[in-house]
Amino acid sequence: MLSLALSKGRILDDTLPLLAAAGIEPVEDPRSSRKLMFDTTRGDVRLIVIRAADVPTFVEHGAADAGVAGKDVLVEHGGDALYEPLDLGIAACRLSLAGKPGCMNVGRRRLRVATKYIEATRRYFTDRGQQVELIKLYGSMELAPLVGLADVIVDLVDTGNTLRANGLEELDHIADVTSRLVVNKASMKVKHAPLSALIADIERSVNADG
Ligand code: ATP
Ligand code: PRP
Repeated sequence: MLSLALSKGRILDDTLPLLAAAGIEPVEDPRSSRKLMFDTTRGDVRLIVIRAADVPTFVEHGAADAGVAGKDVLVEHGGDALYEPLDLGIAACRLSLAGKPGCMNVGRRRLRVATKYIEATRRYFTDRGQQVELIKLYGSMELAPLVGLADVIVDLVDTGNTLRANGLEELDHIADVTSRLVVNKASMKVKHAPLSALIADIERSVNADG
């Protein structure tokens, strides 16, 4: 049996069609069910559906053999405990620095940066030799500059609608983000044949899609 961890929310919407094209369909729709574990039309594959940020943890500890997670989440998780064999090209967006016009002019004090993406943000400013004050948030980052919590934010941007709706502008494009297939290293050894076949099936769906 292979267990595949999927992120709830927008990644799930994009992952299910890819899996279906690979012949893997949950027997019940995870988007409307309160269940967290699903058998599939392929008897040897089971899905678990969890929060996006938890996928690397489940896969790293072998609670799932493989999973689908955004590159943003993988960078924050850090380390090299997971194989990342496939860029699925789904849930594409970018990690950007944003703020109100003129927001970078803070004189001699440190720039205050609100973000959910502490690791990526720390790396970005360290690379520029700029010391900043990081403020960890879990969502609605766009609000932070509007209420004086921060000068700028680092957040995901797709259409730019959320930034525009809140009077913010994109100041720098930090990284491109797509979802990746990640695999537990021990599973890759112990279940090599079925996992390699699963990866190849998913890769074919990705290529057929693109
Ligand atoms: P949770 O609901 O568990 O707090 P979340 O709000 O980050 O997590 P989603 O909004 O579903 O969950 O985002 C999950 C992933 O989808 C992100 O980690 C990122 O890789 C991708 N993503 C987020 N926002 C966008 C967007 N606007 N466009 C495309 N992909 C996005
Ligand atoms: C994400 C992200 C931005 C928005 C960007 O939020 O955090 O707020 O999407 O997309 P856009 O450029 O197309 O407007 P999400 O919708 O996931 O809300 P959440 O962070 O509150 O979960």
